[in-house]
Amino acid sequence: MPSWLFGCCRVSLFCALWCLASTFLSLQASVLGERDLPQLSSDELSVLVTGVPDPIHKLDPANPNSHLSKILIPRAPGTENITLVRNYIVSTLKNLNWEVEVDEFTDETPIGKKRFANIIATKDPSASRRLVLSAHYDSKWFPDYPQNQFVGATDSAAPCAFMLDIAETLNPLLEDRIKRFEEGLIEEDDDDDIDDMTLQLVFFDGEEAFHSWTDTDSIYGARHLAQKWARTYRQHTKRRLLSVQETEISAVEHLILLDLLGAPNPLIKSYFADTRWMFDALVRIEQRLGDSGAFEYGEEKSMAPDSWQSWFLSRQNMNLGFGYLGDDHVPFLRQGVSVLHVIADPFPKVWHKLGDDRAALDLPTMRRWSLLLRVFLSEYLHLRPEVSGKGAESPSENLPDATTGVPSI
Ligand SMILES: *[C@@H]1O[C@H](CO)[C@@H](O)[C@H](O)[C@H]1NC(C)=O
Repeated sequence: MPSWLFGCCRVSLFCALWCLASTFLSLQASVLGERDLPQLSSDELSVLVTGVPDPIHKLDPANPNSHLSKILIPRAPGTENITLVRNYIVSTLKNLNWEVEVDEFTDETPIGKKRFANIIATKDPSASRRLVLSAHYDSKWFPDYPQNQFVGATDSAAPCAFMLDIAETLNPLLEDRIKRFEEGLIEEDDDDDIDDMTLQLVFFDGEEAFHSWTDTDSIYGARHLAQKWARTYRQHTKRRLLSVQETEISAVEHLILLDLLGAPNPLIKSYFADTRWMFDALVRIEQRLGDSGAFEYGEEKSMAPDSWQSWFLSRQNMNLGFGYLGDDHVPFLRQGVSVLHVIADPFPKVWHKLGDDRAALDLPTMRRWSLLLRVFLSEYLHLRPEVSGKGAESPSENLPDATTGVPSI
């Protein structure tokens, strides 16, 4: 859980300076990052919705073997329980053939020295650029029973489970793309830049404050990693000679941070000018999936094509100079990384209460998050779900098609 410390710019001078600074940052980032996402065809969409394992079993807290159940235990930094959760995340991703780094460090906290460990998983370490999808995997520490049984279901067990589901679902597509790249089968008109890009998952440790949120008592893992990446120069990759100045942090094209998700009816806002286009892409994908009936599941009729409601706050309704929330993205933002912060705002009612447990989560809501992310990341990374019955080797049939009866907004 994040804090409001940085929230809402109320001081106008600060606000003006901030807006100026973010305009410069966004100019720089938009040169690097903004792109037209090729829309998946409705056939390709339906492959991601029905043709690959339904996320529901992996996200179901009633299934003891789901990703979510493995994460949904009290897991404060430095405890045996967080080690169990870390081992689960690491082994799941290693089994999928991702390169996994555990970034361990010690930091001073208000309750003494603590060990922390971020988990960084990269599908293709030789790619020059990375899209980072992230969430924190620690739960907030409380000294006494029963508060110390806090499991942070929305904060952020569910987002971590979405990330593992994404890794599993997109893994064959990512591997196929690496293979096509290595075999020189990438079509000429493909965006060269995107083909040298990989997906990286970061699970932050120590997001929560031990006492109350301050600059030094919060986001331990994110502060550590942003600093480390800013100081680490990249080796030349197999694929490309990098300029000597290239640091790990400059290879991050965007950082997407998920937080406080999994409870019904979240409201999601766009905080940063330079990632509005990504926010808009999510809105567009939500519309297509919603209208196609993809969100309806079992008894969940409120998400049927004629009744589902958007989770995203229309940008027309937002004030400018809106500010942002303190969270794991802030140290990266300060290093010039372009950020998409996907967080329920207002926070779930159970925020930092024992009630942020499995009862706070809604299965159709989590499933909908997973589908949204599957499609968004596939479009971003130009992944192509294989539509059976079509000539999979034929580029013309395989090209993303924005016109096949897909409602767009
Ligand atoms: C560790 O997790 C278990 C649930 O698997 C829980 O019962 C136990 O209280 C947790 N231990 C601590 C120290 O929080």
